[in-house]
Amino acid sequence: RCRKTAEPLLSAFAARRDSLGRVKATRRKMVKQAVGGDPVAPPEGFAPNSGVDSYEKYKVMHDRSLEDPKGFWSDVIEEGGLHFEEDFDRSQDVFSYNYHHTKGPIDIKWFPGGKTNLSYNALDRNIKQGRGDQVAIIWEGNEPTDSSTLTYQELKDLVCQISNYLKSVGVKRGDRVNIYMPMLPELPATMLACTRIGAIHSVVFAGFSANSLSDRILDNKSEVLVTASGVLRGKKLIPLKQIVDDALEICEGAGHHVKTCLVLENKHALAKGKCSVKDGRDVWWEQAITSQPKECDVEWMDSEDPLFMLYTSGSTGKPKGVLHTTAGYMLGAYTTVKYIFDAKPGDIYWCTADCGWVTGHTYLTYGPLLNGVTTLVFEGVPTYPDAGRCWSIVDKHKVTQFYTAPTAIRSLMGFGNDWVKEHKRTSLRLLGSVGEPINPEAWLWYHEVVGNKNCPIVDTWWQTETGGIMITPLPGAWGMKPGSATFPFFGVKPVVLDEKGNEQEGACEGYLAIKQPWPSQMRSIYGDHPRFETVYFKHYDGYYFTGDGCRRDEDGYYWITGRVDDVINVSGHRIGTAEVESALDMHHSCCEAAVVGYEHPVKGQGIYAFVTLMDGAEANEDLRKELVMLVRSEIGAFAAPDAIHFAPGLPKTRSGKIMRRILRKIASNEYDQLSDTSTLADPSIVQKLIDSKQK
Ligand code: PRX
Repeated sequence: RCRKTAEPLLSAFAARRDSLGRVKATRRKMVKQAVGGDPVAPPEGFAPNSGVDSYEKYKVMHDRSLEDPKGFWSDVIEEGGLHFEEDFDRSQDVFSYNYHHTKGPIDIKWFPGGKTNLSYNALDRNIKQGRGDQVAIIWEGNEPTDSSTLTYQELKDLVCQISNYLKSVGVKRGDRVNIYMPMLPELPATMLACTRIGAIHSVVFAGFSANSLSDRILDNKSEVLVTASGVLRGKKLIPLKQIVDDALEICEGAGHHVKTCLVLENKHALAKGKCSVKDGRDVWWEQAITSQPKECDVEWMDSEDPLFMLYTSGSTGKPKGVLHTTAGYMLGAYTTVKYIFDAKPGDIYWCTADCGWVTGHTYLTYGPLLNGVTTLVFEGVPTYPDAGRCWSIVDKHKVTQFYTAPTAIRSLMGFGNDWVKEHKRTSLRLLGSVGEPINPEAWLWYHEVVGNKNCPIVDTWWQTETGGIMITPLPGAWGMKPGSATFPFFGVKPVVLDEKGNEQEGACEGYLAIKQPWPSQMRSIYGDHPRFETVYFKHYDGYYFTGDGCRRDEDGYYWITGRVDDVINVSGHRIGTAEVESALDMHHSCCEAAVVGYEHPVKGQGIYAFVTLMDGAEANEDLRKELVMLVRSEIGAFAAPDAIHFAPGLPKTRSGKIMRRILRKIASNEYDQLSDTSTLADPSIVQKLIDSKQK
């Protein structure tokens, strides 16, 4: 059986030159389509609560955030009334760092000597400020008839009960807790319960398979898992507890025992009685939580104590546990929501992300609650029971800010304007976009049809690693260009580097890197600091490398052009090509697999898999289905390839490296742009691949 040779860790780097060429071409097309290139003025009369209503005001604040970070962040803390149990040491710099892998370990620290607690600031602080009876969470179920609310006081009570239970089963400060739950209020409540007692949560998106869940549990060796019986997404039932049982069995096989599995019965999805229960390990939520006291002391955490981890895909290897720490993340979440979403208590803010992704951490849970707003948790999908669901929710709950991904916008756009127009949407003040480049066509539809041209659009660029938004419009402060994330947020110093790592000036195109730390930056990869250094700091010594390509135009606007490594962004979800390839490789008929992304009208990028077969294996429809099923079960349904191409061979250099540039062109039908193929060990393979595709 032939095996795929492991590519060296930095191989993605070598592929960047051609990927940049690829994104350049796409971007040129997008820019041309945009409305003459002129900025779209902020809606008339839009007055930001934050008072930052002009570029000039922003510029003064942005300059200060870089030149006097201590003064800037001290003011943020004071104005927001954010509570530090022990103030950070004001005699020192507010941050210290080393970004040079050549000068010892990469190290980033903010707010030295401070002690605080995120859960306290999100809940107790709001209650102390008089918001106990204000709604903290509106929950909207999969069925339009299901909804409920929790006030700040009720949420705090629930959080304390969960904290007390976790403590009763031995969870202590620094312990990891895995969470695999649907979008019920208990999910953000469990996250808040962990941060209250200093436990590090790791939320695993409840669309991941048993294999992916067990990989994550085995990586962080947590002994506690919180889950639910099941979930309905639209009409589709996902039996979460069953998936958990499978995952925990895999863990057992690998010698790791999860001691406590707390299970919430999601009554309208899957009744308790339909789940199997392992005595001594599985505990039903009702029994465990409802009798717990509603008070629980907070654990005062050092500024740099770990807060949570979240696994994300890279170009190579297993997903990595991105580790965030306490004070910096809290400050980032608070400040970005305040200025970018123009949030204030009383706003009804809806971020459609799932808590399984970073957006659900920072912009559904922590950021909104730190700002005392009401955050909406939606269990269902935007097209159930019909394509007007989002706008009917907006009207039902009087949503003021709406934040979603371009893939959702494109998908809803495809259903036509009537679904939007039959709802009023008059409560909306602001719209946001995140997760992938937004094409100008979708941007304009969002602005004109959804927002009636009354809402600024914040196209926010950031990453799991950055913890919070990095490049974004401030609403009402300057004109927007459809498809551009515009300017850096406070504290963020982006640079555009050329191939050799030189900073470029003025209008330019290259690789996006960040020159100095910002508070919510990740601090490490859980259990693997060397990998953290290699992935983010070895490409360009002295810079945090984002993995994204970027253009800065003559007006200084930043345009993110997409990943320049072997990461595919499917519907705003990051998927490493290597992960999909190793799943396909597991099939006994698969000799070798190579996966690339290609332009997809709704998902942004689709997954295209080239598969060569073992001798004697037959390329047929059944095998295609088996391969797709394998990826679904290894990773999750969202990573299923859109196309499987049974290939006669793969284009390789003489040293055996797959030339993905050629595969991308073939996947995208760009046969005239194959450029130089002479370095291939067997150049004739290109024509054979084209012929086999057309068959
Ligand atoms: O390529 C960029 C793209 O999403 C990547 C980060 O993915 P993830 O860590 O899963 O976080 C998604 C939510 C922040 C980035 O490296 N990306 C994110 N936002 C944008 C974007 N690309 C273009 N424009 C954006 N607004």
